[in-house]
Amino acid sequence: MFKDKLRVGIAGLGTVGGGVVKLFESTARLGERLSLTAVSARSRGRARGVDIAGYRWFDDPVAMAADPDIDVVVEVIGGGEGVAKNVVETALARGAHVVTANKALLAVHGAALARLAERNGTKLLFEAAVGGGVPMVKALKESLSGCRATAVAGILNGTCNYILTEMEASGRSFEAVLADAQRLGYAEADPTMDVGGFDAAHKLTLLAAIAFGVLPDFDHVRIEGIERVSLTDIRMAGKLGYRIKLIAKAAQAEGGVEMHVRPALLSVEHPLANIGGSLNALVVDAEPVGQLTFIGRGAGEGPTAASVASDLMDLAEERGGHVFGRPVAQLADAPRASPVERGRYYLRLMVFDRPGVVAAVSDKLAHEDISIESFLQMPAPGEQAVPIVLTTQACGRAAVEAAVRAIHALGVTAEPPYIMPVEETRARFGA
Ligand SMILES: NC(=O)c1ccc[n+]([C@@H]2O[C@H](COP(=O)([O-])OP(=O)(O)OC[C@H]3O[C@@H](n4cnc5c(N)ncnc54)[C@H](OP(=O)(O)O)[C@@H]3O)[C@@H](O)[C@H]2O)c1
Repeated sequence: MFKDKLRVGIAGLGTVGGGVVKLFESTARLGERLSLTAVSARSRGRARGVDIAGYRWFDDPVAMAADPDIDVVVEVIGGGEGVAKNVVETALARGAHVVTANKALLAVHGAALARLAERNGTKLLFEAAVGGGVPMVKALKESLSGCRATAVAGILNGTCNYILTEMEASGRSFEAVLADAQRLGYAEADPTMDVGGFDAAHKLTLLAAIAFGVLPDFDHVRIEGIERVSLTDIRMAGKLGYRIKLIAKAAQAEGGVEMHVRPALLSVEHPLANIGGSLNALVVDAEPVGQLTFIGRGAGEGPTAASVASDLMDLAEERGGHVFGRPVAQLADAPRASPVERGRYYLRLMVFDRPGVVAAVSDKLAHEDISIESFLQMPAPGEQAVPIVLTTQACGRAAVEAAVRAIHALGVTAEPPYIMPVEETRARFGA
């Protein structure tokens, strides 16, 4: 019986790896088709809340990946380079399957690793790398393989979404909410990967590769984090009927695929506007199916381990398919589309409260042919600079940037104006 089961080795026993061990202990179905035989982490003696005494221990996860008695290596160490990469390469090169949750690795080395898997007739599956427990990868790779995607847009980083949601709910600043999130373990000590938008960009790279049949190309994503989003922006956007979210979006555009991660204003009717806290969500626009939305827990032990387990079941059932949904030779070089720059924009200006300032701002916008859609000024008693926010009617980004430069040059603003796009609501539910 044992030989009929795929023998699994887990490299990394942290949040995700520990969760996978627990699933092996609690989920009969997994144990019917697969057998957990080996584990590896940095420290054997570390208390983990799971009993690993019954599994072969490897001090070196690369040695485990090279062991011929292991059929599937689960790589849940993390990191775009170094040991995780060695583990995955070693396993694929000798013909073992790999299941990984490592978006940082795949976003940068995904094409090379997919080629390596193909050459050796093995599978490389990564449902857990994007959206935690939400089956975004399989939805695009399998369920929507008969459709033509035109856009994928998501909330792919739970830390950023938690921070923005908490800022709105509690009225506390970005810095205060981030410090709390770090204390509670929702944010890393070095939050750059999350709040800087890089983690969402890694995930977007993988989704775009599958959705549009292009080679994963992380360098092509234009990335802007949430560090400049202030409480003023959240409050003013709210007064105008919008909510601010970090949106990761890839879309077919003239000349190729355009990918960006950036904070944006969403009208409350947008399907992503009400995704709160640490949830993740993805909206897919595809022909002829229309619009689909996937929502769920994007991180954490249980949801992420569940996605790893579903990849393991695919291997046991001989499913899984090509790494990015089609053979690497059929993936196009991601043509770098010119960004879609036309749309509505939000501007926040911190202006010195002097007569004539509003007229001067309007004048500079008019000079660039930009029409104002809404305008709000918030009193800031006792402070030197007061916030003015406005949204524009549809215009080119270059024009907005030119107007902003001209406004800043007037010497009436205390800091460089902040620009965010307004994300248009395409099809609405039921539309
Ligand atoms: N956490 C989530 O919710 C989540 C969600 C989606 C995807 N992911 C991805 O899943 C992966 C793992 O994340 P995680 O949160 O589980 O990480 P984690 O809790 O930090 O665990 C990492 C594990 O890797 C082991 N490790 C680190 N360096 C090692 C080395 N040189 N040799 C052997 N073992 C080593 C650690 O060993 P010790 O325990 O002995 O220190 C630890 O068990 C990452 O790629 C992450 O991006 C995580």
